[in-house]
Amino acid sequence: MSDKYAVIGNPIGHTKSPLIHGQFAQSTAQDLVYTAIEGPLDGFAAAVDAFRAAGGLGMNITTPFKLDAFRYATDLTERARRAGAVNAMKFEGERAYADNFDGVGLVRDIVHNMGCPLQGQRVLVLGAGGAVRGALLPFMEQHPARLVLANRTLEKARALAATIAGPITACSYAELAGQQFDMVVNATSASLRAELPPVPASVFSQAHLAYELAYGKGLTPFLRLAQNAGVAQLADGVGMLAEQAAEAFAWWRGVRPETRAVIEKLTIPLL
Ligand code: ATR
Repeated sequence: MSDKYAVIGNPIGHTKSPLIHGQFAQSTAQDLVYTAIEGPLDGFAAAVDAFRAAGGLGMNITTPFKLDAFRYATDLTERARRAGAVNAMKFEGERAYADNFDGVGLVRDIVHNMGCPLQGQRVLVLGAGGAVRGALLPFMEQHPARLVLANRTLEKARALAATIAGPITACSYAELAGQQFDMVVNATSASLRAELPPVPASVFSQAHLAYELAYGKGLTPFLRLAQNAGVAQLADGVGMLAEQAAEAFAWWRGVRPETRAVIEKLTIPLL
C-alpha cells in the first residue's frame, strides 16, 4: 500500500499541495498518496489522530491550524519554535515531529530560483504577522546588511525585531520616506483584499526585487507600485509555495524534488 500524506486546513478546496506533492512523488518515483483534509474548526487534534490511526506518515498544515499544530507537536524544531507556528509534521510511533518551512521556502526562492543573494543587501519587509515571524530567522541567517520591518502597528514590528540578534530594526511606514533598499518584500495580508500598505514609492528607487508573498493575485497594488517605480524583478509567492513543499517532501522522504516544473505549471503571469 502507498504511504499516506495529507494537507489539513479549513477551507481546503483551493489548496495546490496535492498537485505539488503528486508531481514530486512522480518525478522522484516515490510510492505515496497525498490528499487534502478539511479539518473541523474545533477538531484539529481528533482529525490528525484519525489520520495517524489510518497509517498517515506526515502532514502539511495550513490556515487556520498552524497554531493548533504547534500545540499538538511533541517535538519542535528551533525554526518552528521561533515562528510560533507549524506547517509540516512527521509521525513516528508516538512522536509528532514538527517544523515550519515557509521561511526557508521564501529564502530559497529568492536566493536560488531568482538568483538574488540576500547577503549584504538592504532588505525591507512589510508586515509583522505570522508570515514574517516564520521568515525572520531564515532571512537573518543569510546575513543581509540590514533588515527593516515596517508595520502599521509599530509595536508588533518592534516586538518581533527584538526576538532576533543582528542588524534588524523596526519602523513605521511614515519613517520609510527617504530610506533606500535593494529588496522589498510584502508580507502583509493587504493584497488579499487588493489593498496597498502605505509604503512610500521612494523605497523602490534603488530596489531590484519586489516580492509579494500572496500567490495568484496577479499584479497586486504593491507589485504595480514597484513596477511603476522601475523595479526590474517582480515575484509572487508561487516559488515560495513550491519550495516549502519541496523542503517538507525531502524531510519526509529523504529525496529533494526539482521544483522548476511545478513552479512553471502553477505560475500565473503577473499582468
Ligand atoms: P499573516 O499570518 O498572513 O502574516 P496576520 O498575522 O494577520 O497574517 O498579519 C497580517 C499583517 O498584515 C500585519 O502585519 C498587518 O498589520 P497590523 O499588524 O498593523 O494589523 C498587515 N496588514 C493587513 N492589512 C494591511 C493594510 N491594508 N495595510 C498595511 N498592513 C496591513
